[in-house]
Amino acid sequence: MRAVIAGSGSEIARNCVTNEALSRIMDTTDAWIRERSGVETRYYIDAGQKTSDLAVAAGQKALEHAGVAPSEVDLVVSATMTPDHFFPGNGGIIQTRLGIPAVPCFDIRQQCSGFIYGLGLVDAYLRTGMARTALLVGADVHSGFMPWREGSYRRLAGDVDAPLADGEWEVNSESRHLSVLFGDAASAVVVKAGDEGGRGVIDHILRADGADATKLCVPGIGFKHRPYVSAEQVEKHQYVPFMDGRYVFKMATTRMAEVAVELLTRNHLTVGDVKMVLMHQANKRINEYVQKMLELPDEKVIHNIHKYGNTTAATIPLLWDEAVRTGRIVPGDLVLMVAFGAGMTWGATLVRA
Ligand code: UT7
Repeated sequence: MRAVIAGSGSEIARNCVTNEALSRIMDTTDAWIRERSGVETRYYIDAGQKTSDLAVAAGQKALEHAGVAPSEVDLVVSATMTPDHFFPGNGGIIQTRLGIPAVPCFDIRQQCSGFIYGLGLVDAYLRTGMARTALLVGADVHSGFMPWREGSYRRLAGDVDAPLADGEWEVNSESRHLSVLFGDAASAVVVKAGDEGGRGVIDHILRADGADATKLCVPGIGFKHRPYVSAEQVEKHQYVPFMDGRYVFKMATTRMAEVAVELLTRNHLTVGDVKMVLMHQANKRINEYVQKMLELPDEKVIHNIHKYGNTTAATIPLLWDEAVRTGRIVPGDLVLMVAFGAGMTWGATLVRA
């Protein structure tokens, strides 16, 4: 038995935010963002919306696409670094809102590698017969991390002259290397146990190294502090992620290329055998480096970072969903997925569509 991706669906947040709009609330430019990251637009949820709203909508579409009823699902895996609550996770929230029975629901926290890790977990359950039909959702809402206030949101929404509070511009600019990269979205797949024509997950490699955990992390708001959240942490904006961008860039290019080659080699394959490579969308330049190192022709690589930015756990299923719906991936195609993220975590998966 293999884990066959039987359907997929995505939900992008409603509000399109251009680079030009961001330049109304912080010291940045469209040219810098495009050149350094490839991002042109990203989408943010409305105030009051939450990650599970996007996750449920994506899950619903994936179930419809797969022709699977909620009652048939016997495993839910929610990959998110931005759950609705500190606890519990979103797995059970997604399960109940979709009308799925009281089945095992996991929440996993591998950030940008969340989907690859989730698919590994689903594969293990399906291969061993512990489940037959899984719903795997990658969903993240990054706009909530930002220290932006009312004036900033009004400017982003088009009120270009909305007043900013004292110091708001400076505070927004402090996290500009990070905030311009991310967007809010969810994407889900339904994965069924099957044994038709070699379809399904063939192999995967998952890796982690906590030695670099603090190179990309939320420095405050956590149980290394007592209490785990304090007014001081909030005042210092320690709920905003910290990222050593250059270091993460270097590690991402190295690890993604390395793990892709390792996985292909141990399966006696080359990039020539692969129809499509789906890389996590953190920075277009990272993926261009990896593409070059793997000697991949352009037609084997798809990007959507220009439209959505980095949506962490949602990036790879978003690419899959778009490629399947536009006919760029058809049943029987060999697809390589590769990701790198905070943790540090990384991995690669080979799937026959
Ligand atoms: O999903 C996995 C997690 N994340 C990643 O994989 C991200 C990995 N890192 C990156 O993608 C890149 O390092 C960034 C896009 C974050 C930054 O690009 P960079 O080419 O490494 O720029 P930098 O951080 O070295 O900064 C270069 C300059 C600095 O100014 P000075 O010191 O040279 O005067 C920054 O202050 O660019 C400045 N800068 C900006 N300027 C305008 C940083 N962010 C911005 C901005 N707008 N948004």
